[in-house]
Amino acid sequence: MPAPSHVMNTYSRLPFALSHGKGCRVWDTDGREYLDALAGIAVNTLGHGHPRLVPALQDQVAKLIHCSNYYAAPLQEQLAAALCEISGLSAAFFCNTGLEANEGAIKIARKYGHDRGIARPEIIVYEKAFHGRSIATLSATGNAKVQKGFEPLVEGFVRVPLNDVGAVREVARSNPNVVAVFLEVIQGEGGINPTRWEYLRELRTLCDEKQWLLMLDEVQCGMGRTGKWFAHQWAGIKPDVMPMAKGLGSGVPVGAIVVGPRAKDVLGPGNHGTTFGGNPLAMRAGIETLRIIAEDRLLDNSAQVGERSRKGLERAWTGLGGVVEIRGQGLMLGIELDRPCGELLGKAANAGLLISVTADNVIRLLPPLIMSAAEGDQVVRILAPLVRDFLAGK
Ligand SMILES: Cc1ncc(COP(=O)(O)O)c(C=O)c1O
Repeated sequence: MPAPSHVMNTYSRLPFALSHGKGCRVWDTDGREYLDALAGIAVNTLGHGHPRLVPALQDQVAKLIHCSNYYAAPLQEQLAAALCEISGLSAAFFCNTGLEANEGAIKIARKYGHDRGIARPEIIVYEKAFHGRSIATLSATGNAKVQKGFEPLVEGFVRVPLNDVGAVREVARSNPNVVAVFLEVIQGEGGINPTRWEYLRELRTLCDEKQWLLMLDEVQCGMGRTGKWFAHQWAGIKPDVMPMAKGLGSGVPVGAIVVGPRAKDVLGPGNHGTTFGGNPLAMRAGIETLRIIAEDRLLDNSAQVGERSRKGLERAWTGLGGVVEIRGQGLMLGIELDRPCGELLGKAANAGLLISVTADNVIRLLPPLIMSAAEGDQVVRILAPLVRDFLAGK
């Protein structure tokens, strides 16, 4: 009999524990090796034990881990400047997680509305969206399973389907309280559902016409994952508010809200804060992650290895019934099957591959951005027969 667990039962877990990693490989406590095509859910940007990140973090741990936001923050300045340079935006606020970044974005939208005399500001959100597990962010999320049991939900959200500009224009016509549009550029938890670039451009135009905030959740699809720094850059537009997190610290928790001119001065002293946000260790992790992505040309790597893996999977499954669609961009790939496929998590792990399954029937690949072409090919070699056997009922 295993000893009773004292950890709250909020996750169904695979029955092995990971002990250490190197690059895109991880090992469990029994010494079994896995190829990591999950990166801790889009977090381990630089893989595991990166030879330039580790000494930088060790140096920072020895110098200063945390000091509160009472003092001048040079490392925050440095990371904020770097984020503004790669995004073309104006300022950043630092927090610790994706939901916190989104929660802050929702506060910015509400305050922006109040500043313009709108007493009950509303935000347009999307079907199948995922923005986090706090009460406000789960209310913005478009998934009844995430919301069930936590009602009453936070009010002030209007939901529309993705990629339907008519639906947004209809809300614009009928609802004078709208102040912002809030969406993931590529929906992650909802099943790797890309926003059409043309749709994003139309949203940008509409937000400018109506003086709304365009708020793009880049928590999962940002930080180089799609082959550009931020997924919206494929559409050639800029958001007003961009919450991000996950890959920013390569495993050290860091979140940020990066804002453009329209949102930059909405929050003032006393409006928002966090004890841990912007601490020196997290900032150093972000600074080094950005530096290494740029120095090692990992955006190009993400685009190329992602495209090669996608083509490899397409070739392997040509004519195979049951694979509905392969979609995504760069190293953010989703494979929709015609049936629930959660059991593939364990089967893939038994075959030495870490993946995820989301929205019940979508296999999701989110490997570290350092994944080589050979490792990408290995992902295909392991996954292709697994899916084939699974669909054949074996
Ligand atoms: C798009 C998106 N937004 C927000 C979140 C929430 O991030 P966190 O789990 O760090 O709170 C996630 C997490 O999966 C996400 O994918």
